Amino acid sequence: MKLLQGKIVLVTGAARGIGRAIAIGCADAGADIVFTDISKEENFVSLEKELNSKGIKAKGYVSNAADMNSSAQTVEDILKDFERIDVLVNNAGITRDALLMRMTEEQWDLVINVNLKSVFNLTKAVQKTMLKQRSGSIINVSSVVGVSGNAGQANYSASKAGIIGFTKSIARELGPRNIRCNAIAPGFIETEMTKAIPEDARKEWAEKIPLRRAGQPKDVADLVVFLGSDMSSYISGQVINVCGAMLT
Ligand code: NAI
Repeated sequence: MKLLQGKIVLVTGAARGIGRAIAIGCADAGADIVFTDISKEENFVSLEKELNSKGIKAKGYVSNAADMNSSAQTVEDILKDFERIDVLVNNAGITRDALLMRMTEEQWDLVINVNLKSVFNLTKAVQKTMLKQRSGSIINVSSVVGVSGNAGQANYSASKAGIIGFTKSIARELGPRNIRCNAIAPGFIETEMTKAIPEDARKEWAEKIPLRRAGQPKDVADLVVFLGSDMSSYISGQVINVCGAMLT
């Protein structure tokens, strides 16, 4: 039997990058997949098609993770279609980098809402179902900079550090009901998000990483499969780095 056979996995912000690799990785592990993204672009449609071609059930939902009502409505729609949610992966995230001197209130609010409030919105929306099921695994995508901090990313680092506090609290609060909650802290992963960084800087970073390469979205997806599966049934409240030893 495959690791995630019989489970329904919800991934936010899955049309591209790490979220897409997570959706595909979980489908390959036998799960049915529900995913969200902010708009229905070509990559959204192609992901839905790719997942369904794997012989599992999959459906995408247009939903703004930063919006509480949109998130609650989406979870309601998913439950109508799929009846349960076993794994929630809070992956949607953005950057609006600037030094504090130049950071606007808008940049601060947007990053906090998309990266951190979204985790509250979705976790709250799935909580009732997971309580009823008496099981669930919630996986929040944080970042190494949520642990270490990073110049020029005060908003992003704060949002990712906030996710860690939220994760540990939910692990304690919902643990007695057999609901687990863990955070993943990726290092430097090659996606559209990091393509915004100049190539020279990216090369320099990769050279400083002990494993001497940037991470790939699949490196993160593999950990999600493990944390979503019953193989990790005694692991909760943890922050696990996927960073090639960039942060030890
Ligand atoms: P990406 O920019 O390639 O993909 C993010 C996806 O989220 C996009 O499909 C986007 O449309 C979607 N999204 C954005 N706002 C949304 C919203 N309000 N509601 C629903 N969907 C929304 O980014 P990437 O690199 O795949 O990042 C995924 C997650 O991993 C993010 O939380 C990011 O902060 C985190 N991360 C990424 C790292 C990297 O090196 N790429 C390192 C550490 C963490």
